Amino acid sequence: MTGNGRRGESLLSVADLTVEFATEDGVVHAVNGVSFDVAAGEILAIVGESGSGKSVTAMSLLGLLPQPPARVLSGRAIFRSRDLMAMSGRELRAVRGNDIAMIFQDPMTALNPLHRVGRQIAETILLHNRCRAAVAHARAVDLLRLVGVSQPEVRARQYPHEFSGGMRQRVMIAMAIANDPSLLIADEPTTALDVTIQAQVLSLLQAAQRETGAATILITHDLGVVAEMAERVLVMYAGGIVEHADVRRLFREPRHPYTVGLLHSIPRLDADVQQLDPIPGAPPNLLAQPSGCPFVPRCALSRGREVCLTERPALVDLGDGRASACHFHDELAKDKGALHV
Ligand SMILES: Nc1ncnc2c1ncn2[C@@H]1O[C@H](COP(=O)(O)OP(=O)(O)OP(=O)(O)O)[C@@H](O)[C@H]1O
Ligand code: SF4
Ligand SMILES: [Mg+2]
Repeated sequence: MTGNGRRGESLLSVADLTVEFATEDGVVHAVNGVSFDVAAGEILAIVGESGSGKSVTAMSLLGLLPQPPARVLSGRAIFRSRDLMAMSGRELRAVRGNDIAMIFQDPMTALNPLHRVGRQIAETILLHNRCRAAVAHARAVDLLRLVGVSQPEVRARQYPHEFSGGMRQRVMIAMAIANDPSLLIADEPTTALDVTIQAQVLSLLQAAQRETGAATILITHDLGVVAEMAERVLVMYAGGIVEHADVRRLFREPRHPYTVGLLHSIPRLDADVQQLDPIPGAPPNLLAQPSGCPFVPRCALSRGREVCLTERPALVDLGDGRASACHFHDELAKDKGALHV
């Protein structure tokens, strides 16, 4: 291990991130005033349905959103005392793939189909380090071995299309940890893979995280993955954080009705048919900014109460390391007899 800072120290501090897209249909409010911290060495999961703003949040941190159509209206992201949001393209390129590395859902978007795999990993090393090409290549082979690619010398000379989906994701992980990053951002790293391969890639990601000591932001819509891997969880809905808690508390005692719905939607292993029990109703239209709570049309806790329609709830610190953006979060507390929603 690693020059990755003392575990627990704040590594990244995101404040008031607001991102919108100008589209033909109007302005899409994709991320609305998101704030969170990532501590050195921790695994933080971001969960939420499709379209809730998880990827836009991650991409904006690394300057990867196309602007236009994206517009970052506000936000700071202090990483090791420097604001990522204020960095030039050149400064961000020096950070990306080096101090902060990203793993995407589809490795083919990040791998160059025309270059041999070993060369691509070696190039990531050479881009950020002064060393001889042969040294970088040898390190690339070591990394392939580390991520469980057999015959790494042979495989290093092959092209991405000669690798299976799971193997390509292993290559992505090798590339991501090549420069010993202090922060890994993995955006749905296993969604495109079939279930058995998913488990292998996740445990590899876990091992890579332990090896490097890198803090990890793990974006997923799979609460099973969260339970398995994460220490803290941010739940996103309609571009905002609606709940924030450590993983055990979130599962035991969710304090936002949307989180309750997500937990109910986990497929039950003991059920005859394994299917998701989705939260009734559709995700919100991000073209309109409702004045009240964005969850109100789907919320079983609100029961038509006026304040839900008129006031957007802020994310309130509950004083025990958690936060909820629900006017009536205390009605979900176990000691208050936990309403079933
Ligand atoms: N290039 C774009 N142009 C217009 N709208 C966009 C663009 N990229 C994202 N959006 C919108 O921003 C919102 C947030 O998208 P985002 O990709 O962050 O969702 P997500 O939570 O990552 O969803 P998923 O789980 O499907 O990956 C969505 O409404 C999406 O349609
Ligand atoms: S504020 Fe009201 S509508 Fe929003 S989640 Fe809480 S109870 Fe439901
Ligand atoms: Mg996404």
